[in-house]
Amino acid sequence: MRLSNKVAIITGAANGIGYAAAERFIEEGAHVFIADFDEKAGAQAANKLGNQAYFVQTNVADRESVKSLVATVVGQAGRIDILVNNAGITRDAMLIKMTEEQFQQVLDVNLSGVFHCTQEVIPHMIAAGHGKIINTSSVSGIYGNVGQTNYAATKAAIIGMTKTWAKELGRKGINVNAVAPGFTETEMVKKMPEKILEQMRSIVPLQRLGTPRDIANAYLFLASDEASYVHGHTLHVDGAIMM
Ligand code: CAA
Ligand code: NAI
Repeated sequence: MRLSNKVAIITGAANGIGYAAAERFIEEGAHVFIADFDEKAGAQAANKLGNQAYFVQTNVADRESVKSLVATVVGQAGRIDILVNNAGITRDAMLIKMTEEQFQQVLDVNLSGVFHCTQEVIPHMIAAGHGKIINTSSVSGIYGNVGQTNYAATKAAIIGMTKTWAKELGRKGINVNAVAPGFTETEMVKKMPEKILEQMRSIVPLQRLGTPRDIANAYLFLASDEASYVHGHTLHVDGAIMM
């Protein structure tokens, strides 16, 4: 049991990669708070994952909602050992067509959401003298991607925030790292035109997309004591789609 009795918040854990992470963390002994916007899927996920999973409906883009999440977790569990900032959205469009709304919506969730959650959680980690923060970047943030001005900007920013927080929070006993997944089989990639997705799949040396569990295993490693000296790092989990 690599996370025995640890208390984790995983944002966006009602579906996809976050759900796989909640499942994986519970297998390793953690208590997981699923913080997700999607009320129906969140309640179903908690039900399916059993008595170490709890759903708290949360909009990470809304500071008050995040405050309420943190109060609920601390009230119920007494502490927060791990925060996985996994919630994210896409609003893809070519730069020439991208609307102000598409640009802003992605910034609100993928960037402000991570800022809100981390800022509200760290006072509790600092008081405890330990904690693990894992942020979710993307291949799009590292290499850029056609149609993703908004999304790539946020995922590149995640790397900058991760390094900054590693410098600020290391002396408080808090590890901060990021995972940069490649194209992974979830609803997010299902929205892509099949032709483009096939093109992406074909350039991966491993010749397959990632599975949610592939990414969940990377979150698990960074959340565990095995990664105690890994800090400020962005772990690429992408089948080497680009090098
Ligand atoms: N590489 C090269 N050229 C591309 C391209 C790509 N990845 N994607 C589109 N193009 C080209 C098209 O072939 C097309 O070329 P022509 O004008 O010569 O025909 C041109 O760009 C315009 O493309 P569309 O006709 O598709 O334009 P559109 O306005 O209808 O749609 C789009 C634009 C919404 C960006 C659409 O192309 C699309 O959804 N692309 C996929 C974007 C993508 O990869 N998203 C990743 C989602 S998964 C995710 O985000 C997870 C993660 O972290 C990786
Ligand atoms: P998904 O779309 O399957 O799941 C995202 C979850 O986030 C959903 O449950 C959704 O309800 C929740 N969510 C959306 N907005 C929210 C908000 N404002 N507050 C709280 N929850 C919210 O997506 P997936 O693929 O599981 O993505 C997880 C993370 O991995 C995202 O940050 C994504 O950008 C990143 N990523 C995904 C890749 C992929 O190919 N699937 C590749 C690289 C990164």
